[in-house]
Amino acid sequence: MMRRIFFLFATVLLGLIFPVSCYYDSEEDLYPQVQCDTSNVSFANDIQPILTNSCLSCHNAFSSQGDVDLEGHAAVVKYALDGSLVGSVQHDRGYSAMPQGTSKLEICKIEKMKAWVNAGAPNN
Ligand code: HEC
Repeated sequence: MMRRIFFLFATVLLGLIFPVSCYYDSEEDLYPQVQCDTSNVSFANDIQPILTNSCLSCHNAFSSQGDVDLEGHAAVVKYALDGSLVGSVQHDRGYSAMPQGTSKLEICKIEKMKAWVNAGAPNN
């Protein structure tokens, strides 16, 4: 009888210890995609490459679909400051979901765009 109680106790104890050990695993190793550096976001190094890859095919200076031109800082800043740049990539209600016809941008790209807009959309 004592043995059985001890066995039960040991099983419960192990069950408590194991999940706790996972707690100390580093988040970086477990979820690499969680890491997204949104400090010092630069228009030239961060934002422009996203636009070039995912948006300029439809929104360049010569062929601006929906009359939206996203080529160059001076053109982009208008949509950054009126909220439609972030609203459209976040698929917010009231904005056309972008990029049109394909899947949503990666979360880190959206976070960088938000950080840049929140910083006042600088030409940096
Ligand atoms: C395949 C073509 C295509 C791609 C790629 C595309 N767009 Fe658009 N976009 C459109 C069209 C067409 C419109 C206008 C019609 C509409 O609003 O649906 C538009 C409208 C917009 C608007 C105005 C939305 C509003 O509700 O005021 C913004 C801002 C915009 N796009 C940003 C982007 C951004 C940022 C990307 C890249 C992440 C992108 N678009 C990629 C075709 C595209």
